[in-house]
Amino acid sequence: ATRKNIPSEYFYDTEGDRLFEAIMDLPEYYPTRCEYEIFDTHSAEISALVDPGRNGFNLIELGAGNGHKTKLLVNAFLRDNQQFHYLPVDISDNILSTLQKNFNKDFPRLSISPVHADYFNDLKQLPDGGNSINLYLFLGSNIGNLRMNEAIQFLKMIAGNCTAGDQLLIGMDLKKDPSVILRAYNDSQGITREFNLNLLRRINRELSGNFNVNKFQHTPVYDPEMGMAKSYLMSLEDQDVFISFLNKSFHFRKWETIHTEISKKYDLSEIKLLARESGFMVKKLFYDQKQYFTSALFELPYSV
Ligand code: AVI
Repeated sequence: ATRKNIPSEYFYDTEGDRLFEAIMDLPEYYPTRCEYEIFDTHSAEISALVDPGRNGFNLIELGAGNGHKTKLLVNAFLRDNQQFHYLPVDISDNILSTLQKNFNKDFPRLSISPVHADYFNDLKQLPDGGNSINLYLFLGSNIGNLRMNEAIQFLKMIAGNCTAGDQLLIGMDLKKDPSVILRAYNDSQGITREFNLNLLRRINRELSGNFNVNKFQHTPVYDPEMGMAKSYLMSLEDQDVFISFLNKSFHFRKWETIHTEISKKYDLSEIKLLARESGFMVKKLFYDQKQYFTSALFELPYSV
C-alpha cells in the first residue's frame, strides 16, 4: 500500500498475548487499573442497575481474556443473589480453559459456559439466551481499537442481537493530558515497543520474513483533537525486506511508516453519539477517581 499498515488483530499471537499481559501491569498503562478501580468501587451499584427480570440474566463477555476484572462483578452479582449464567467469549481456546478453571475454583456456585468464537465477525455464533435478559460486557477499552464508524457498526451488530432491556457495559478510555496518554504507549521499560515490533518478528516467524527489527522504530503519537493514539513502526533507513511465503520483496523508504494501531480516547459527547447512533441509551457512566476512564452502561430502550 502507499500507506503501509498491519491490522492490530495480528498483535495477539502467544508472544503478543504475553507482552500485552505485561503491558497491563506497567505503571504507565493506566486503563486496566482504572477499570479495576471502577469495578472495585461501583460493582454493587452496577449490580443494582441490572434488572434480571423473572428469568435471571446471561452475562456475556466479549473478549473475556483472563477475566481478572470480571471477577469483581461476578462477586457482586453473587453477593446480591442474582440468578445469572456467565458466557465468556474469546477467540483463544487456551485462555478460555484457564479462565474456566480459575472461576470454578473461586466461584463453585457459578454457572459458566465458555464460548470459543470470533465475536467481531459473527455474534450469531453465540447461544440463544432464551427469554432471559442479556448483559454484554465489552471491557478493557477494546472499543478504542476501532475507528468511530467501525465502533458504531460493531455496537449496531450487538444491538441487532439484543431485545429491549438488554444492557451493555463498555469500558472506554477518556481524553486527558496527552503526556499521560503518550507515556501509556511508550513505557520506560520498552515493553510496548516490543509488543509493536512483535508484528515484524511474527512475520519473520510465520511467513519467513527477514525484517531486521533494529531498523524499525516504535513511534506512538497522540492527536488530542481526534482523541486518537496511533502507533507506527518507522523505517530508519532505505531498505528492502523479503517475505519468503509471499515470494515478494517490500521496499521501505527512510522514515516511511507502517501504521499498526489506533487507540481512541472518548469524551462525553462522543459517548452519547456512539450510543445514539447504535440504538442504545446511556443508562449510567461510572468513573475512576481521576476520571481517566469510564465504564458506560448502555441499554436497548423499549420502543415508544
Ligand atoms: C487492547 N487495547 C485496548 C490496548 C490499547 O490500549 O489500545 C492495546 C495496547 N496497545 C498498546 N498498549 C496496549
